[in-house]
Amino acid sequence: MDYNNVKKVISQRQSLFAQQMAENASIEKNKLLQLLELANYAPSHRRTEPWRFVVFQNKEKNTFFRKLASIYKSNTSNEYFDEKKFHKIEKKSKNVAAVIAICMNRCPKESVPVFEEQWAVACPVQNMLLGMKSLGIIGYWSTPKMAFSNEMKSFLELEGNNQCMGFLQLGISKEGLPEIPRKENNPIEEKISWR
Ligand SMILES: Cc1cc2nc3c(=O)[nH]c(=O)nc-3n(C[C@H](O)[C@H](O)[C@H](O)COP(=O)(O)O)c2cc1C
Repeated sequence: MDYNNVKKVISQRQSLFAQQMAENASIEKNKLLQLLELANYAPSHRRTEPWRFVVFQNKEKNTFFRKLASIYKSNTSNEYFDEKKFHKIEKKSKNVAAVIAICMNRCPKESVPVFEEQWAVACPVQNMLLGMKSLGIIGYWSTPKMAFSNEMKSFLELEGNNQCMGFLQLGISKEGLPEIPRKENNPIEEKISWR
């Protein structure tokens, strides 16, 4: 295994958003499955494998965005409700080709703390973010407040202490989209203290 190859894949990962996605594009189920296969290589304490995914494509994806917008409406007081934002959520369905709802399945025995299960669900998400480019897919992890609502929980049919942890919004890059320079993170040296 070559460090530079691994670094290349990791350092070139980039979140790209709905405005960078081509309208009315689709992603074949087989490609989504390849992406999800990468997810399943993630680690988890006591091998609880708490990651679960609900995939929305085609018409179901439109239903998803309508639901997201309706949850925004029902969970926002009149004072803060923004009609433009409501329509913006619905319209995302034009550019986003598929949505993967990221869910945490709480181990029934609760053999590890809930935060460990949440951390373990972030690992497969990163695996997918890393794999997207190789499959010609762009996207990002989105965590709107609506993801954590009871309405979303029942829409996703999550029972008990299972949780939604956001959505992987996936699409195909607009044709001729210029390379968007990656915003560099602050240097790692600033984040380490050596003892
Ligand atoms: C846990 C988590 C939640 C995120 N939630 C959102 C979100 O709700 N909306 C959004 O636009 N981006 C969200 N992002 C993506 C970030 O905007 C993105 O990672 C950040 O801008 C850094 O860019 P990069 O991914 O290209 O390095 C989230 C990322 C993570 C890890």
